[in-house]
Amino acid sequence: MINVNANDKKIEKSLKDFVKFKFPHNISEEIFLSIEVFDNKGSILIKWGSFEKNISFSFKDFSECNHFLKREILKNLPNEFIDKSFGTLIGVRPSKLYAKIRDKNSREISKKILKRDYLMPENDIDFLEEIYVNQKNLLDASTYKNYNIYIHIPFCPSRCTYCSFPSLTIDFEKVPGFIRALEKELREISKYYKKPPHTVYIGGGTPSAIGPENLAYIIDLVLENYGMPEEFTVECGRADTFSLELLKTLKDRGISRISLNPQTFNEEILKDLNRYGGADFLKYYNMAKSLDFRVINMDLIIGLPGENKKSIISSINRAVDLDPENITLHSLALKKGSRLFESAYINDKDYSEILSYAKNLLAENSYKVYYMYRQKRMTLNGENIGYGKDKTFCLYNILIMEEMEDILAFGMAASTKILNKNFKFKKCFNYKNLADYENRINDIILEKSKLIEKKEELF
Ligand SMILES: C[S@@+](CC[C@H](N)C(=O)[O-])C[C@H]1O[C@@H](n2cnc3c(N)ncnc32)[C@H](O)[C@@H]1O
Ligand code: SF4
Repeated sequence: MINVNANDKKIEKSLKDFVKFKFPHNISEEIFLSIEVFDNKGSILIKWGSFEKNISFSFKDFSECNHFLKREILKNLPNEFIDKSFGTLIGVRPSKLYAKIRDKNSREISKKILKRDYLMPENDIDFLEEIYVNQKNLLDASTYKNYNIYIHIPFCPSRCTYCSFPSLTIDFEKVPGFIRALEKELREISKYYKKPPHTVYIGGGTPSAIGPENLAYIIDLVLENYGMPEEFTVECGRADTFSLELLKTLKDRGISRISLNPQTFNEEILKDLNRYGGADFLKYYNMAKSLDFRVINMDLIIGLPGENKKSIISSINRAVDLDPENITLHSLALKKGSRLFESAYINDKDYSEILSYAKNLLAENSYKVYYMYRQKRMTLNGENIGYGKDKTFCLYNILIMEEMEDILAFGMAASTKILNKNFKFKKCFNYKNLADYENRINDIILEKSKLIEKKEELF
C-alpha cells in the first residue's frame, strides 16, 4: 500500500499516477510519501518499515519539481517495491522521447541525459537506440504532409476475455448499416486528397469476421477513392475467421501485410479466454505463406491467465519456427471493459526474463526491434514490442507511435490525428457506439472535414 499526500494537488495527482504505474499490485509493505512545497522550496519524506528519509530541495517550476520528486522516489525505494524499467518515464511512447533527444545529440550525450534526468537504466537506453536506428531511414523519408488511413471494423466472432477494444460480437444484420456509414465517411473525406495514402491499416475488432465479400467491398472503396498505398495491412486476427477465399481475396487486391494472430499456441488456454479456432491456425498460416504475402505478422500475448514461463516460451519458439516476417509481443494489459479486469484478475508474475529470452531468440533469428509502446496496467515490466526482418517493418505501426504523419481514421470508435508542420496535432473521435456512429455520420464527417481544412493553421 502506498500513501501519497502533498499540500499541492497538482503534484499529488502527478505522483499518484506515477506510483500507480511504477508499483507492483501485490506490495504488502506500507509506504508513505509526504510532500510539502512552498514558493520555490520543497521537501519529501519517504518512509517505510524502519526506513525514513527527508529530502529538501528548491525548484524553478512545476516540471522541475515533479521530475525531482519522481527521481527521489525511484532512487530511494528498492527494486522489490518499484519497477525501475525506463526510469521515471511512464508514458506510452518512450521511443518518441528518445528520438527527440537523440535527433539533437550524439548517442553518448543522449545516454547521459536519459540517465541523469530520467534515471533510465542502460539496457533500456540501448534498446531505444536500437529502435531509433531501425526506424531512422523510414522516418527520414516521412513528411507531415503525408497521410495514412486506419479503418476500424468493430466486429469479432466472440469477445476474448482479456479484450477491451471497442468491438461487438458479430451480428451479420448489423454489418450492412455499418458499411453504409463507413462508405459515406470514406467517400466524403476522399475529396481532400489527391495522392494515395502512405499506408492503410484495416484493424478492429476482427476485419475478417465480416467475411471476404464485405471486406473486399471496403478494400475496393479505399482503392477506388484514395489509391494504392505503399503498405496495406489487413488484420485478420482469429483463425476462426480465416478461409482460403478470404486469403485469396486479400492477395488479389494487392494487400501487402496481413496479421494472423495466435496469441498463444496453447489451444486450451485460448478456449478458456473465449477465443476459438486455434486448432486451424497452422493450416491457414501455411496457406497464407503459399500465397506469398509480402509480410505476415503474428501477435502473441505474454501473461495470459493459465500460462506459465514454460508455455509462453514454447509459443514464442513455435512462432519463430514458423518464420513469419513480423512477430509482435504484447504484454497482457488488464483494462476496464475486459471480462478479466471485471473479475479482478491480477497478474503479478514478473515476465521480464521472458522478454529478454525473446529478445535474444528473435535477434538470433534475424528479427530486429522496430517499434514499441507501453501501456498502463500491464503485466509487470511489460511492453509491446514489434519485431521484423529487414525491409519488412510495418510503417503504419511506426508512424502511429512516433506521431510523424496524419492518421485519418474511419469506422466506429476510430480516432483521427492531424499534424501541423511542427508535429503538433489535434484529434477528433468517432462515436464508440455503433448506433451513434451510423446515425451521426454527417456530424462526424463535418468535424473531420473542419480539422483537415485547418491543418496548415493548427495552433
Ligand atoms: C486490436 S487487437 C485486434 C486483433 C485481432 N482481433 C485479434 O484478436 O487477433 C490487436 C492486438 O492487441 C493485443 N491485445 C488485445 N488485448 C490485449 C490485452 N488486454 N493485453 C495485451 N495485448 C492485447 C493482441 O495481441 C491483439 O492481437
Ligand atoms: S482480442 Fe481481437 S478477437 Fe478478441 S475480442 Fe479483442 S479484438 Fe476481438
